[in-house]
Amino acid sequence: MSAGQPVDTGLTRSATFLVFSVLQTDSSMRAVRSVLSSVPDITKNISIRDTNANLTCVVGIGSRAWDSLMRLPRPAELHPFPEVRGAKQTAVSTPGDLLFHIRSERRDMCFELERQLIEKLGDTVQLEDQTVGFRYFDARDLLGFVDGTANPVGPSAISDVVMISEEDENSNATTVGGSYVVVQKYLHDLKAWKALSIEQQEAIIGRTKLDNIELEDADDGQQQSHKTLATIEDASGKEHAVLRDNMPFGSPSTSQYGTYFIAYSRHLWVVEKMMERMFLGNPRGLHDRILDFSTPITGSTFFAPSLSILKRLGD
Ligand code: HEM
Ligand SMILES: *[C@@H]1O[C@H](CO)[C@@H](O)[C@H](O)[C@H]1NC(C)=O
Ligand SMILES: *[C@@H]1O[C@H](CO)[C@@H](O)[C@H](O)[C@H]1NC(C)=O
Ligand SMILES: *[C@@H]1O[C@H](CO)[C@@H](O)[C@H](O)[C@H]1NC(C)=O
Repeated sequence: MSAGQPVDTGLTRSATFLVFSVLQTDSSMRAVRSVLSSVPDITKNISIRDTNANLTCVVGIGSRAWDSLMRLPRPAELHPFPEVRGAKQTAVSTPGDLLFHIRSERRDMCFELERQLIEKLGDTVQLEDQTVGFRYFDARDLLGFVDGTANPVGPSAISDVVMISEEDENSNATTVGGSYVVVQKYLHDLKAWKALSIEQQEAIIGRTKLDNIELEDADDGQQQSHKTLATIEDASGKEHAVLRDNMPFGSPSTSQYGTYFIAYSRHLWVVEKMMERMFLGNPRGLHDRILDFSTPITGSTFFAPSLSILKRLGD
């Protein structure tokens, strides 16, 4: 069993999401490989200054960069984020060769890791997006709802959802211990959202606001809530979850209010199915009403390989 990267460490008070494109030259690729292989050591060096702060970093590699950067066969499902064009919103597909998902209880530890990574990467990369997320009260999104409740709980349930194992069809030395990762940066129209009644908001999410109790699904053929549209079953009726570590971000002074969505899964198709049901609707036409108040401005897919593959990259 290959050890995975620290995917399953849970929500922290602070998180930083970095997405880069890599310059398509041999020397950039070589330099980036060396930095990526040292990420576990860089993280450890900072985390020993306060081990209680639970500093972690997960590295993801995008489809375009995979071949030249990794020099390994491609994970079977890895491809660029597919745009989903809905009636109300389009799930846009934006560039991303590298993802760094930095988490800690301490904002300064996230900052320090970001600083060292940027310094080491130098001019081999181009920044596509940097988002700093924070915990908002009892892990609520800026729409005011607790986010992350339906996540799998406990090491074995989490690893069952996120980590590719030897038993998986198509799995092999390249993919075992790894996960697919999908990110999307959303901006909210909070003014319009707050004009809704609490009952209308609860019907959109599918949970009560104050005490976070799950509501009944709507009847078949009716407008479904977010939680129902994001519940995926395969042909045999088996439910497929993902692990979400969404964080709020924003700046009241510039009226920017957002949710950084991030999902880990051992099957990329599960996240893509969720996207389709949200943006196109199920039944078709009845899209997720969260999207009447939320606009995705990025969308990228990555593969987070096992720790041993990451560490060997510098060889
Ligand atoms: C504007 C962005 C989003 C916001 C604010 C948001 C918020 C929420 C909230 C409040 C819940 C209920 C609590 C919970 O179970 O975590 C939830 C559930 C969920 N969301 Fe989202 N979400 C967003 C986007 C997405 C996207 C893009 C996906 C997948 C592609 C997704 C997948 C899920 C799943 C799988 C659940 C759990 C469903 C269940 O089994 O009950 N969410 N989300
Ligand atoms: C970790 O810290 C040690 C001691 O300060 C240093 O020698 C080493 O280069 C650092 N490693 C990385 C990857 O930054
Ligand atoms: C750090 O992580 C451990 C293990 O997941 C957890 O038990 C602990 O509460 C976390 N520390 C803080 C300060 O949240
Ligand atoms: C692993 O699976 C992928 C995709 O199915 C394939 O391209 C590759 O050759 C396989 N072998 C290794 C060692 O990764």
